[in-house]
Amino acid sequence: MSLSYHIITYGCQMNVHDSEVMAGLLEDLGYTRALESEEADLIILNTCCVRETAEERVLGKLGELQRLRWSNDDLIIVVAGCLGQQPGAAERLGGRAGFVDVVMGTHNLYRLPELVKEARARREAGGGPLVEVWPEHVEVREGLPVRRERGVRAWVTIMYGCDSFCSYCIVPYVRGRERSRRPESIRREVAGLVGEGYREVVLLGQNVNSYGRDLGRDGTGPTFAGLLRDLDRVEGLARVRYTTSHPRNFTDDIIEAVAEGQRICENFHLPAQSGSTRVLAKMNRGYSREDYLSLLERIRRRIPGAAFSTDLIVGFPGETEADFQDTLDLVREARFDSAFTFAYSPRRGTPAADAPDQIEPEVKQARLARLIEVQNQVSLEVNQGYVGREVEVLVEGAAEKDPRLAAGRTRTNKLTLLTPPRDLTPANLVGREVRVSIERARTWSLEGRAIG
Ligand code: SAH
Ligand code: SF4
Ligand code: F3S
Repeated sequence: MSLSYHIITYGCQMNVHDSEVMAGLLEDLGYTRALESEEADLIILNTCCVRETAEERVLGKLGELQRLRWSNDDLIIVVAGCLGQQPGAAERLGGRAGFVDVVMGTHNLYRLPELVKEARARREAGGGPLVEVWPEHVEVREGLPVRRERGVRAWVTIMYGCDSFCSYCIVPYVRGRERSRRPESIRREVAGLVGEGYREVVLLGQNVNSYGRDLGRDGTGPTFAGLLRDLDRVEGLARVRYTTSHPRNFTDDIIEAVAEGQRICENFHLPAQSGSTRVLAKMNRGYSREDYLSLLERIRRRIPGAAFSTDLIVGFPGETEADFQDTLDLVREARFDSAFTFAYSPRRGTPAADAPDQIEPEVKQARLARLIEVQNQVSLEVNQGYVGREVEVLVEGAAEKDPRLAAGRTRTNKLTLLTPPRDLTPANLVGREVRVSIERARTWSLEGRAIG
């Protein structure tokens, strides 16, 4: 009987995709996928440490897994991802959770098969946990197997790491410096995905705008705009999305590439983080409130109907009520379609964590609640603007809340539930772009019926 694995993923899309690679590596070893941790011989926690809550979730899960480990002598538990990559964290994890068999990091992902084999051997010899975390990245590895979820959308990493060093953020420390994949490799992967039946790709990077900078000196390397133009020509692909872009280096050339592209979606995820220029400077974001708003203006002028989403942090050290008001005003002025909102969480080793003027947890929570309320109101208003309009929806499957309805997304990334044309089921529509007349709007979704 073959061994089975189960992967539990926390954090961003990078981690989601890393989990697909780990699954591919294990299936090449002959492992099969287990749907539940209870049934698995190998459990991987792919961890995130961007905020304290993310870390707590991982540690809570580890506590749960301890029981399984006691009742199954053959079970191997691996902690992978960003958590172990923090200074000192690997040792803490290996020590505190004595039942963890492997602690690995983000730079040695491809070593998973060897590490698992070694852990099994150690177990038989009665040895302790295996900790292998590399402080530095190695060159980009191409050709690793990927076991993707079947579906309409595929994740494609175009670059690793981050060089931005926003003062609150742990990511540059746990993911290393920016490294771009070669455009030919990306193009080949995307064409292959189309061959497998995927209709949409989402290009991943912590800051996709700086794609290619590390591949050529003095602006001779590939650019993100160039990559978009390339991928726009891939036959059979319906849509290209990408995440995340930094507002600082979102060039006119990128705007132009999106505007001219047939397949590149008109939806812009541009994390603002704050509406206060004073706070933005302390965050080391490299733009002012005015710069940010004028970027949105430039995009809207060139691409009418573009949609905008953002990330916002409240309670950054020293944030005053007036700074917070600036953030509320930004939300009203920018009219974001949606926003991911976070209370600032100090991360050891980042400059902001050592700032003397930390904000009380209650103040952060109160500001977060007020911010969410304002954004929800804006989201609902923006969505109401869709009622009576026709949009193109790429159908992904049946709606969770009602299997008679199909669910998919507009080019502007709105979740849309639709009544299929007569005689067709949601399953018939999967992977197709359907014209939909919108009849109802909610804060998080649209509803309508297929036409034509
Ligand atoms: N590279 C991406 C996203 C990185 S993490 C970008 O720059 O947009 C996703 C989001 O988590 C960030 O945009 C930020 O809003 C939030 N975040 C990062 N560090 C945080 C911290 N210490 N406390 C609270 N939120 C944080
Ligand atoms: Fe973190 Fe800033 Fe890099 Fe995003 S751009 S990952 S927020 S350091
Ligand atoms: Fe978390 Fe690592 Fe992503 S810290 S947000 S999983 S890069």
